[in-house]
Amino acid sequence: MEFEFILVNPNYDKHIALIQLNRPKELNALNLQLMLELKKALQQLDDNDDVRCIIITGNEQAFAAGADIKQMESKNAIDLLKIDQFETWDQIRKTKKPIIAAVSGFALGGGCELVMTCDMVVASETAKFGQPEIKLGIMPGAGGTQRLTKAVGKALAMEMVLTGKFMSAEEALSAGLINRVVPTELYLEEAVKLAKEITIQSPVAIRLAKESVLKAFDSGLQEGLYFERKNFYMCFASEDQKEGMKAFVEKRKPVFTGK
Ligand code: HXC
Repeated sequence: MEFEFILVNPNYDKHIALIQLNRPKELNALNLQLMLELKKALQQLDDNDDVRCIIITGNEQAFAAGADIKQMESKNAIDLLKIDQFETWDQIRKTKKPIIAAVSGFALGGGCELVMTCDMVVASETAKFGQPEIKLGIMPGAGGTQRLTKAVGKALAMEMVLTGKFMSAEEALSAGLINRVVPTELYLEEAVKLAKEITIQSPVAIRLAKESVLKAFDSGLQEGLYFERKNFYMCFASEDQKEGMKAFVEKRKPVFTGK
């Protein structure tokens, strides 16, 4: 399987496949093509009977620092509506096999949302989770307001989404966002260990069990996701979105005017 922005190994370990996000210079910023590649890879691995568990990882510095701001900067609400990138995210969420995110470094914005779309999370002690979209004059758009709130509760989710502050791996563990924290040199190994506890089980029971846990988690989620999506598009009708993203690209602090 050949892709440009991800590396895929369907035989990483017995019954375990590995997907590595691979735009290291951009801290694995999730551009549209990367997300399409990820969707395609997950579909292929879902169809591969030899694969029983999938690990998604980045590199030591970054899992993913968010959606690609440079790609979004000039877009307006209608552009986004037409691109319909969330169709890709919806498909990723439909993967039947369990997915473990092995996270080191930044997992921000869309990167944190991708982590939360996975089923379990193993983090290195350097991992940082956050929804910093507010600093760009926008808000989370790929499930952040919904999944973070369900995972860590209203108070903490509200603080993270409204201030954009990051959460350390230890904080994420105690808040219930992730499963384990290990020293950086061990995070991928630890994810494989967890995957092995799953691959020895019945693949049929695992599939049905995953589906059922998601049912509990996702009840009411679809409605929330659509609501969030509309508001995310709405942000792109503002001057503040242009200013927030332009300031990021120009490496300066944004000046928001409320327009
Ligand atoms: C595009 C990005 C990027 C991003 C980093 N880069 N994050 N490019 N989109 N999300 C690029 C930088 O422009 C830079 O490229 C290179 O990666 C290294 O980043 P630096 O900023 O120089 O690194 P550092 O000083 O270590 O700071 C790391 C950081 C910072 C704190 C993670 O990069 C940052 O704040 N990134 C943006 C995080 C963010 O706001 N994410 C949310 C995006 S919106 P150059 O060419 O300058 O070297 C989002 C919405 C999702 O995710 C909605 C649905 C999909």
